Amino acid sequence: MAFFNHYLLIFVLFILSVESADPSAQLCNDNSNSTTSEITKNINSLLPKLIQATSQFGYSATSFGHGQTQVFGLAQCRGDVSAEDCSACIQEAAKEIRTFCPNKADARIWYEYCILRYNTENFIGKLDTGFGVFYWNVENVTDPKTFNDGLGSLMYKINAFAGVSGSKGLAKGETKLSPFSTLYALVQCTRDLPELECRQCLAIAVGNFPTFCENKKGCRVIYSSCYVRYELYPFFFPLDKQTALESSSMKNYSWVVTKP
Ligand SMILES: *[C@@H]1O[C@H](CO)[C@@H](O)[C@H](O)[C@H]1NC(C)=O
Ligand SMILES: *[C@@H]1O[C@H](CO)[C@@H](O)[C@H](O)[C@H]1NC(C)=O
Ligand SMILES: *[C@@H]1O[C@H](CO)[C@@H](O)[C@H](O)[C@H]1NC(C)=O
Repeated sequence: MAFFNHYLLIFVLFILSVESADPSAQLCNDNSNSTTSEITKNINSLLPKLIQATSQFGYSATSFGHGQTQVFGLAQCRGDVSAEDCSACIQEAAKEIRTFCPNKADARIWYEYCILRYNTENFIGKLDTGFGVFYWNVENVTDPKTFNDGLGSLMYKINAFAGVSGSKGLAKGETKLSPFSTLYALVQCTRDLPELECRQCLAIAVGNFPTFCENKKGCRVIYSSCYVRYELYPFFFPLDKQTALESSSMKNYSWVVTKP
């Protein structure tokens, strides 16, 4: 609850089915500077750089321009996603973000497979959990005690791994809750974050589980610096992709947006 107090709840109770192809969330920050023609030019030059490097390396943090109109950008794919899916996702993100947010300097877009953001203010390497989106499955688990014990220890285990060098900010794992039920979890920090900040981000995300996802069968926390998700079905790679897409689009989710 402590973390929750820092947020203003602006949005509650939307039921929708989450499709992998649509953005999970996007932000066009009203509090950021308006774009000028020079900033727009720099954004238009930055995006192809981000697409190219991210398609190749799965991650890119760079900038374009100088002085007041310099634009900083970061793009990253979820670490378990194929190069092909990564490239497709980043290209879609770059197109969509300009349509969604043509006039503001601070724009961010989140998909299941990738994220992209840019701003005239340098955000690279800085922990940011100000803007957040929480999705949860409306269905409750049947055995909260077993579920929460399993979730707690799985999160503890994988969070320790996400920050270490070589992990590329990604950690995932699964744990058997019963002979019939397995819990799957994935965490991903943006790769510009130092280890300590990565762990902090994940701790804040997991710390908010009780607020939005208590006893829920599935939960996603989306911050600018990290992403956390758990489900009672497999959703990360390697797996049979069709299974994951079907099971995720079948579920009912509610969501809230939190703001600094
Ligand atoms: C807005 O632009 C001014 C310079 O034009 C800059 O000093 C300031 O940091 C910018 N603010 C943000 C939030 O990017
Ligand atoms: C889940 O549990 C909560 C709290 O006990 C309850 O308010 C809600 O109606 C339940 N949801 C479903 C789908 O049964
Ligand atoms: C979504 O939830 C509603 C209410 O709990 C239920 O009637 C409906 O069958 C669910 N839909 C799916 C696709 O699970």
